Amino acid sequence: MSDLAHLKNYISELHERYRNNHDGTLATYIPELGKANPDHFGITMVTADGQEFSVGDVQQEFTIQSICKPLAFLMALERYGREETLRHVGIEPSGEAFNSIQLDRSNRPFNPMVNAGAIAVASLIKGDSPESGVNDFVKRLSLAAGRELRVDSSVCASESATGNRNRSIAYLLRNFEVVDDQVDHSLHQYFSQCSVLVNTRDLAMIGATLANIGENPLTHEEVFDMRYVKDALSVMLTCGMYDYAGEWAYRVGVPAKSGVAGGILAVVNRQLSIAVYSPRLDARGNSVRGIKVCTDLAEEYGLHAFDFMNFGSNFIKAL
Ligand code: DON
Repeated sequence: MSDLAHLKNYISELHERYRNNHDGTLATYIPELGKANPDHFGITMVTADGQEFSVGDVQQEFTIQSICKPLAFLMALERYGREETLRHVGIEPSGEAFNSIQLDRSNRPFNPMVNAGAIAVASLIKGDSPESGVNDFVKRLSLAAGRELRVDSSVCASESATGNRNRSIAYLLRNFEVVDDQVDHSLHQYFSQCSVLVNTRDLAMIGATLANIGENPLTHEEVFDMRYVKDALSVMLTCGMYDYAGEWAYRVGVPAKSGVAGGILAVVNRQLSIAVYSPRLDARGNSVRGIKVCTDLAEEYGLHAFDFMNFGSNFIKAL
């Protein structure tokens, strides 16, 4: 069997292997997310030269949630550079849950992947008006996905209506002058970013754009500044899975980000990306089936950064 046929078969096999795994629960702290069909399950892999392999509910849309965070961080770096951006947010893993109300010793958020850091970043990239900053963000993600994306206004309203913990984090940041006094505007930017609708194909194309150092492999649009892609990927590797980040780096060994709607995006530098959607989450807020699929794929194909089987970009050449 060719490597290509093996890969297609293997992804279908993984879908079959975990289809009947019903562990975990939907996120209900944002009431709109509780309406998802818990059985939905889609897997897409896209290589850094644009070849796609999909199985399951890959057209099903869901909100990107925290997977927006590394992309927003990248946009802040493009706009302000490293020094200024890192005055507002650190790059150390916190070992804490995503919604932890905690700052580092210099009263900055630990990293851009926890909510505090993501709100600081949202404040940096918000536009002159609440609409313009959100539009810029959605436009950029659309270029990376290769199709026009949009915000789910019901989820955004639900986030905002129940977002008092995020509101308290934002005011704590205001107290330490990490964000400016347009606190509601920054929160609107953050809630909207989390509410962008994607399916696994969109997410995997966004990941393939990162794997291809910022250029969409199909449209050849230069979506992200290649100088900062590594910044986003490194915080994904060290902080992307919250209090599971250490174990993820050890077991899977590739940059990744999860979202509470049930998405996981994993990126193998210069090679490929994997997007999984399955809304049942573990206690840390990560998709149960998503973790299993990524772990098995990394093992089978030696994707871990330090696996003796990992030969850099040879994975694509073999297909
Ligand atoms: O801040 C929140 O509550 C959400 N909108 C985003 C959280 C999220 O996706 C955490 N990730 N697992």
